[in-house]
Amino acid sequence: MTPRLLIGGALGLFGLAVFFTVALPYVQTNDLPAWEHTYRYSEKALRGRAIYVREGCWYCHTQQVRPWKVVDGRIEGVAADADLGRPSDPRDFANDRPHVLGTERTGPDLAHVGSRQSSKEWHIKHLKDPREVSDGSIMPSFAYLSDEELDDLADYLMALE
Ligand code: HEC
Repeated sequence: MTPRLLIGGALGLFGLAVFFTVALPYVQTNDLPAWEHTYRYSEKALRGRAIYVREGCWYCHTQQVRPWKVVDGRIEGVAADADLGRPSDPRDFANDRPHVLGTERTGPDLAHVGSRQSSKEWHIKHLKDPREVSDGSIMPSFAYLSDEELDDLADYLMALE
């Protein structure tokens, strides 16, 4: 194979990769109309979000419900996500920097945890000692965080509706 063919092929593949993973998603999601479900964060919740990123909560938790819908009484799409609530939409994450969609669900998906668990006391108790409120939980304790940090983190979790 000539070097020219090799370089041409490599550039072609690179171009295709950029087209499908950068250009196409950009065009598809850039002009979407406003959306009532976009996560909105108070300053306190944003501080909590930074703690979420720093502590690596996203190693164990996703924040994305894959697409599913009910058609003629049957679930179409990713049935495994049907009990996690509304499927995520790109507009949900318009205010998120960096994104913490996550890739692994050692713990439950947290995309709508604020609607499931809306008690701050519960969140703080759970973060300090997961096994106190959830029998046999393997989530680590975050009791080493300050009271203020736990409070900020709970505000963030409650904003995920
Ligand atoms: C080693 C993996 C792991 C890490 C790291 C982790 N979690 Fe969890 N988390 C779990 C597991 C497993 C559960 C399910 C059992 C339970 O409720 O404790 C859970 C449950 C939860 C729940 C309750 C979800 C629900 O649907 O009721 C919340 C909220 C939560 N985690 C937040 C956090 C936050 C915030 C952090 C970072 C400070 C964190 N987790 C870090 C594994 C983890």
